[in-house]
Amino acid sequence: MNNIKVLAIETSCDETAAAVVQNGREVLSNIISTQIDLHEKYGGVVPEIASRMHVEKINLVINEALEAAEVSLDEIDVIGVTYGPGLVGALLVGVVAAKAIAFAKDKPLVPVHHIEGHIAANYIAHPELKPPFVCLVVSGGHTHLIMVKDYTSYEIIGRTRDDAAGEAYDKVARAIGLSYPGGPKVDKLAKEGNKDAIKFPRAMLDVGYDFSFSGVKSAVLNYINGCNMKNETLNTEDVAAAFQSSVVDVLVTKSIQLAKEKQINKVALAGGVAANKGLRAAMLEACQDNGITLYYPEILLCTDNAAMIGCAAYYEYLDGKRAGMDLNAVPNLPLGKK
Ligand code: KG4
Ligand code: ZN
Repeated sequence: MNNIKVLAIETSCDETAAAVVQNGREVLSNIISTQIDLHEKYGGVVPEIASRMHVEKINLVINEALEAAEVSLDEIDVIGVTYGPGLVGALLVGVVAAKAIAFAKDKPLVPVHHIEGHIAANYIAHPELKPPFVCLVVSGGHTHLIMVKDYTSYEIIGRTRDDAAGEAYDKVARAIGLSYPGGPKVDKLAKEGNKDAIKFPRAMLDVGYDFSFSGVKSAVLNYINGCNMKNETLNTEDVAAAFQSSVVDVLVTKSIQLAKEKQINKVALAGGVAANKGLRAAMLEACQDNGITLYYPEILLCTDNAAMIGCAAYYEYLDGKRAGMDLNAVPNLPLGKK
């Protein structure tokens, strides 16, 4: 087979997404139907609403992806789908849709780990990128420092022991009155503030490769309460800048430390928080100082999408991975080790 076209489906959280990707790196279409406005008033993703919306949108989004790519289902070679981790009811919608198409059209079904998809977004953005490299995956649900050994082989070196980086962003955003998802809004506000105005803790900075973000989040909340009690006006720009600096410092320090320890001169960012301007700038500076090349996807490919799942599915397909009609959603799916 010369040109392998993957139809990819992603419904692990609050985006209903489908894409057609050719030979892993060529995105023929990438359709995302976001539910953000529905969850915004609740301050976070409501699983039941997410599942219902996926059911409503999935067929429309798949059809749109095929139309935009100008291919029919018969011309698709592989069906790729996220089967975990994520919200079980949300994942199930994508898994069932993928199984139905694979069964009806007798196509191979390839299950994809959501984090593997986030990492793969870098292959789309950088056609020359090849493993091995160090990847920092920072999203609303995950904070992982990963050695990407090969296209389908990963080793998790560090992970968060409590909140994910994006989760900390969203909680701090809420405390300073910004709506969900707060990460991009805190990022914007941070640009206006002085990062040295307040000193928030840098948890586990010198201790191994694991992360902890609940301490800095609590420190921010305490600081805000303190200001309120003293009737002081809160400088939200300074709070955002100081919080961002504390999170980014830890993320950058540990990523560079791992790359140096493993003697790898490539570092990639992935996941929603990889869209963060402060993180990108600080990581770029640290990489340049250490002779490391930095990779990150464009913002649309950082947050949840199906093109990244299509890319990961392509490499898993080449590696022989297949699922049967018994494929199930696995909400706490671990990232595989080979
Ligand atoms: O990868 P993603 O779309 O979903 C998960 O798999 O979790 O990531 C969403 C997370 C949210 O927490 C959002 O606030 C955060 O990524 N995020 C950001 C930025 N853009 C999105 N956090 C900080 N700065 C940003 N610019
Ligand atoms: Zn994600």
